[in-house]
Amino acid sequence: MAATRNDLSTAPGSWSMRRLPDMDEAQFDQWQTLLEHRTGISLAPERKSFLETNLGIRMREIGCSSYQAYYEKVVSSPDAVVEWSTLVDRLTVQETRFFRDPDAFKLVADYILTRPREVLKQRPLEAWSVGCSTGEEPYTLAMLLNESMNQLELPPLFGITGSDISKPAIDKAQRGLFNARKLLGMDEALKTRYFRPAERNSVEIVERIRERVCFTRLNVLDLKHAPMHGMNIIYCQNLLIYFRRWRRREIVKRLAERLAPGGLLVLGQGELTDWQPPGLQRVPSENVLAWIRRQSDEE
Ligand SMILES: C[S@@+](CC[C@H](N)C(=O)[O-])C[C@H]1O[C@@H](n2cnc3c(N)ncnc32)[C@H](O)[C@@H]1O
Repeated sequence: MAATRNDLSTAPGSWSMRRLPDMDEAQFDQWQTLLEHRTGISLAPERKSFLETNLGIRMREIGCSSYQAYYEKVVSSPDAVVEWSTLVDRLTVQETRFFRDPDAFKLVADYILTRPREVLKQRPLEAWSVGCSTGEEPYTLAMLLNESMNQLELPPLFGITGSDISKPAIDKAQRGLFNARKLLGMDEALKTRYFRPAERNSVEIVERIRERVCFTRLNVLDLKHAPMHGMNIIYCQNLLIYFRRWRRREIVKRLAERLAPGGLLVLGQGELTDWQPPGLQRVPSENVLAWIRRQSDEE
């Protein structure tokens, strides 16, 4: 009979109290290959203890005592898809914050403010935060676009999409509810304009911003299935750092195809080195890695 988590944590000698055996090299290879094949994330050998810890936590939760048995569960059991979805959330780093990279956000604001008014009036601006985690980045973009449109005295015609591989992260992003600590250090005027107090020390994004942001679950390795096209801004930071160089290039190429001519692509500093993505022109900046898509696809 299956024991409850409580029984197991109090029963000395039960499997939950036992330390999982160390992961050997072949097992590490097997898990690393699966993770990289399905998500693009490449785990260096130094991160073996990260893998052991996070697999271990999940294995204890479901009462699985060997890495091999758990591997079978993730790849071939009837609930493999659901289990994988839970596991991927545990194996991804979801650290994020509002206005995380001020220089990059300033570049985005300058980009909007210097666009021809006629263009901004004709068609809503579309921005996409790729690997958006729990939503702080796409909501920051929404605040920024709103501020810029206000400054230009234009109606707030824009839409933001946030996408991530983790369903729990996307669910949290969709709620638009954050711990008040997340606003520490943020400009007071922005706090007042875009957040309102909610229950138990949390704050909520105001409706007029929330309604401009939508979220979807999307693996960046599956960009060919993504419906996003003609984006004015694609913002992808702190995701490609987990990928090998060749894969970063592939993904950047795919993202570039999703930009509108004249659209802006922003990555994190140092996330792509020694390579010029075709069809894109580097934005001169010391602190921000960004490109504009050329008007025609000629080099
Ligand atoms: C460190 S967070 C970055 C969040 C935000 N972009 C920022 O810079 O603050 C990385 C995010 O990438 C997501 N991620 C990892 N692999 C992914 C993949 N293959 N497809 C889509 N998202 C992925 C993770 O779930 C995580 O939320």
